[in-house]
Amino acid sequence: MTRPILKKTGVVDVGLGRNVTIVQPSNLYGCQLGDDVFVGPFVEIQKDVTVGNRTRIQSHSFVCELVTIGDDCFVGHGVMFINDTFATGGPARGKRKLWKSTTVGDRVSIGSNATILPVRICDDVVIGAGAVVTKDITKPGIYAGNPARWRRDSMPAKRAVSRSPRTAKPARTSTAS
Ligand SMILES: CC(C)(COP(=O)(O)OP(=O)(O)OC[C@H]1O[C@@H](n2cnc3c(N)ncnc32)[C@H](O)[C@@H]1OP(=O)(O)O)[C@@H](O)C(=O)NCCC(=O)NCCS
Repeated sequence: MTRPILKKTGVVDVGLGRNVTIVQPSNLYGCQLGDDVFVGPFVEIQKDVTVGNRTRIQSHSFVCELVTIGDDCFVGHGVMFINDTFATGGPARGKRKLWKSTTVGDRVSIGSNATILPVRICDDVVIGAGAVVTKDITKPGIYAGNPARWRRDSMPAKRAVSRSPRTAKPARTSTAS
């Protein structure tokens, strides 16, 4: 009987700011997390990703290589970033030159189950739950749908992170956003 190749999740070669919380199990390697970052359980953050100060990444999200996320962002549950667009008709299968990058600005809140294709998102944006972001977002505001489209100006109240990770209980996976 053959045996599978078993690999463990872990936190390997991660650059850490102060007061970072990572709920296990999560799989983080070769990335950089700023001060007061919170990472919920069942998250994967791949190498060379940078996550800015006070940003929260909620459970079950996937942040792939070539993604940069700014300060004071909120990445909801099950958010998927994409770097391989199947540009040649299928997966790039590790051919990095086919991958494309994503940059998320500061104070960006991404609703649960959103999918972010390789784009640039400016500061002060809200992405609705389940949105599929296919194009650059250059104007602050609220975007939703598939493909994500501008809906209205941002809410005047606080966007993005509403609570310091210092006050969050690490074992809890849901958010009061
Ligand atoms: C996009 C969002 C910010 C809009 O909030 P809002 O402006 O208060 O929206 P409203 O509830 O007033 O709805 C306005 C319209 O947008 C639609 N809408 C709302 N959210 C939507 C979404 N995520 N995708 C598509 N349409 C959406 C509503 O159906 C409504 O349509 P209608 O005008 O045809 O009736 C919000 O609905 C959302 O998706 N938030 C994400 C929350 C989240 O994922 N949190 C994660 C932590 S639990």
